[in-house]
Amino acid sequence: MTIDLAALPQDFLWGTATSAYQIEGAVAEDGRSPSIWDTFSHTPGKVDGDDHGDVACDHYHRWREDIGLMKELGTNAYRLSVAWPRVVPGGDGPVNGKGLDFYDALVDGLLEAGITPSVTLYHWDLPQVLQDRGGWSERDTAHHLAAYAAAVAERLGDRVQHWTTLNEPLCSAWIGHLEGRMAPGLTDLTAAVRTSYHLLLGHGLATQAIRAAAPGAQVGIVNNLSSVEAATDRPEDVAAARRMDGHTNRWWLDPVHGRGFPADMREVYGVELPEREGDLATMAQPLDWLGLNYYFPSAIADDPTGPAPYATEVRRPGVPRTAMDWEVDAAGIESLLLRLTDEYGARRLYVTENGSAYPDVVRPDGTVHDPERAQYLEQHLAACASAVRKGAPLAGYFAWSLLDNFEWAYGYDKRFGLVHVDYRTQKRTVKGSGRRYAEIIREHGGSERRAA
Ligand code: IFM
Repeated sequence: MTIDLAALPQDFLWGTATSAYQIEGAVAEDGRSPSIWDTFSHTPGKVDGDDHGDVACDHYHRWREDIGLMKELGTNAYRLSVAWPRVVPGGDGPVNGKGLDFYDALVDGLLEAGITPSVTLYHWDLPQVLQDRGGWSERDTAHHLAAYAAAVAERLGDRVQHWTTLNEPLCSAWIGHLEGRMAPGLTDLTAAVRTSYHLLLGHGLATQAIRAAAPGAQVGIVNNLSSVEAATDRPEDVAAARRMDGHTNRWWLDPVHGRGFPADMREVYGVELPEREGDLATMAQPLDWLGLNYYFPSAIADDPTGPAPYATEVRRPGVPRTAMDWEVDAAGIESLLLRLTDEYGARRLYVTENGSAYPDVVRPDGTVHDPERAQYLEQHLAACASAVRKGAPLAGYFAWSLLDNFEWAYGYDKRFGLVHVDYRTQKRTVKGSGRRYAEIIREHGGSERRAA
């Protein structure tokens, strides 16, 4: 398939993304303390197959090989996350130099390879010691995030320009504290709403801390948004879709854009926010860019007896789905990029994650044939280019993921990588989709278009 990506800018970032707990392993090395995900994954029955991240892709020891894979793909950017429990094992207080040494060497390795590092501070691995003190339900955690962010920015800020405060705070708050399907596994609306508030406060405080420690830093936040529509035109479903849009999109976008928390959703949750004067201004630090993680659209129906926001996803027949059972529909990425541009006035956007899981196998000839993933990639990149033609200031795309990895509550069974990982031997095999990504990057000038 030929795709027209000519609209993408000359200095486009062609990247891949991962996160610390999903790939690093080495959970007890060099002073790292347990995170809430170590606790959750080691609680029987919480993760499919009782899988955990103890070894994962062993990236902590194999990062040089993994940078080699990025070079093989021809990417010029890499989005990684730093593990808070490696850097500040006590949650707050002393910084563990050895934990920072790992990221220091990784960043140097990336830069030597001509790959721009994009660093996320919080991709869900809260130190367990902080959870034991109330976790994100407590205001202090927001301040601890900022102190940890400062420590990382002080060490890496001379070489790293791209910073993300939070990855998908929605998952931490709603899936981790309301639905209980992710760490810390709570089902408590009050805790979930307080968590959402403190996460966004932490985002604002961390943004200030990064900028103070690393002048010139380009700071953003990454949200997993969804293109939501009503399953039918029944007024109840239309209202439910509006609530789901508030729950998934507006609750996370409005406060960081200085609009406060959406009034309709405050009413839906009926939980008092732990507000203090000045918090909204802190949350609304001017951002250098916004990150969009997009996977699937959702058709929504009213669900008066379900949990907040009393709306549920409806299965549309005849729609292609990935192994996650997520609908494939590239139109959603385009509409969200345009919404961020038009409704929220974004000045720079990145697709910070986009990808698909399929049940890949290594064939006897040693190759991995995954045409569905290659097609997903092509369709979504084409939709990105279309959004750019319509005015979206998109500056980069990070495929999720570089490697197959620990897919949270789904364990290792769900494979999102452009590179296959045999977890028994740790052998990496570039999949057909990885080769297709390399070809697309080459065709569109990726290797000559090194980012500044
Ligand atoms: O694996 C996750 C990632 O950690 C956050 N965004 C969605 C991905 C796929 O589920």
